[in-house]
Amino acid sequence: MKISVVGTGYLGATHAACLAEMGFEVVGLDIDPLKIAALANGELPFHEPGLPELIREHVANGRLRFTTSYEEIGSWADLHFLAVGTPQRAGEQAADTSFVEDAVRSLAENIPRSALIVGKSTVPVGTARRLQDILQLHRRPGADVGLAWNPEFLREGFAVNDTLSPDRIVLGTDDPEHEALLRAVYAKPIRQGTPVIVTDFETAELVKAAANAFLATKISFINALSEITEVVGGDIRTLAQGIGLDARIGASFLRAGLGFGGGCLPKDIRALQARASELGQERSMRFLSDVEEINLRRRERAVHLATSMLGELVSSKIAVLGAAFKPNSDDVRDSPALDVAVRLFDAGADVAVYDPKANANASRRFPRLTYAENVEQAVAEADLVMVLTEWKEFVELSPENLQLLTSARKIIDGRNVLRAEEWTDAGWEFAALGRKYAPAYEYSTIGV
Ligand SMILES: NC(=O)c1ccc[n+]([C@@H]2O[C@H](COP(=O)([O-])OP(=O)(O)OC[C@H]3O[C@@H](n4cnc5c(N)ncnc54)[C@H](O)[C@@H]3O)[C@@H](O)[C@H]2O)c1
Repeated sequence: MKISVVGTGYLGATHAACLAEMGFEVVGLDIDPLKIAALANGELPFHEPGLPELIREHVANGRLRFTTSYEEIGSWADLHFLAVGTPQRAGEQAADTSFVEDAVRSLAENIPRSALIVGKSTVPVGTARRLQDILQLHRRPGADVGLAWNPEFLREGFAVNDTLSPDRIVLGTDDPEHEALLRAVYAKPIRQGTPVIVTDFETAELVKAAANAFLATKISFINALSEITEVVGGDIRTLAQGIGLDARIGASFLRAGLGFGGGCLPKDIRALQARASELGQERSMRFLSDVEEINLRRRERAVHLATSMLGELVSSKIAVLGAAFKPNSDDVRDSPALDVAVRLFDAGADVAVYDPKANANASRRFPRLTYAENVEQAVAEADLVMVLTEWKEFVELSPENLQLLTSARKIIDGRNVLRAEEWTDAGWEFAALGRKYAPAYEYSTIGV
């Protein structure tokens, strides 16, 4: 089977390389010629552990190629995965589906044969039906082109493993031939036991939206409880453990801290609310606006903690450790760490940001911040150190080592990954979100 992957960003580049790893002949297509040139050279324009090696291996053995030509893939491939972006529409909550629409139109106009288009992008429910109409309208005479929906659940930072060994495969199709084709593509993970759910377009689209809404809600749930433990002097980590051991609840996604960000969760919960409103069901997803507010209040809380530890922010020097929205990624889209760094800067602080992988992306987005090349440089002059993304090298910081690099004796753990006692025993003033070490906070005074 010859397979194309349309859109070679985080999702598409990973999917293309993993399909090649599974043994297929694959061509990745993007409208960005620079991205395509880099990938064709075996260079990955973003950070994803294990992916550059896979791309280089399969580019070298000829199983993986890259192109900008729809004409080329149209006549060549049996199956086309759609992995283009669905960002938030400017000035609105809803998702911008124009990229998927453009891609389907381009495919329809360039496929002269029988083929299957398989959507992987995260789209508002109802999009696949609309795309089917676009496909009918633009397809070439005699070409038999079908559509199926197969949402993607990979996590950045674990993308290769999640693609090769997914925890479930959801197939939105009512055509047994399309189902059989997709079962053949995923034969390896299916053999290894990955469950397959076959359903209609709408449910397939909603499974993805629902998964992200649930994960965001779980994070904000524990962070909302942080607001309570901070006032009463409790410990959110112990509370999370206390509920997470209940098998009905589960421990994952219960680490309280600075909250969620990235290119998916924030835009996906906004898009779900927008779509629910369009469907006349605004009330059903209204709670997600609380989920988002709780999430944003954690960033305010981090700034408040910094202010209360420093007295005032103006002219204070703050080392911000972390800019990516999570560790093992250089993605700074909607990053809580970077947002806090900007808020501190805007409040008059002198901020030095260091991230092991995301400095370049962060400085493109916010060139006015100062970026350090390593922890040593970031903390050298600092009055306060803030750990805002839980990279391993920050989790492993010890007070003894850090005090060789800086005279600052103040640290904020924005991700609840440091051992408070170690730091306080070594003479540091330590604060964390949701724990008793944090100065009290008047929540009634906060707006979002
Ligand atoms: N990043 C993730 O972890 C992840 C996980 C699951 C699902 N998703 C979903 O996958 C989709 C893609 O996300 P991403 O993070 O890879 O985005 P991205 O911005 O990294 O990549 C999108 C790519 O699509 C290309 N593109 C845009 N229009 C095109 C067109 N008409 N033809 C060909 N290429 C085109 C862009 O140039 C870009 O390279 C989104 O819907 C996202 O919600 C992402």
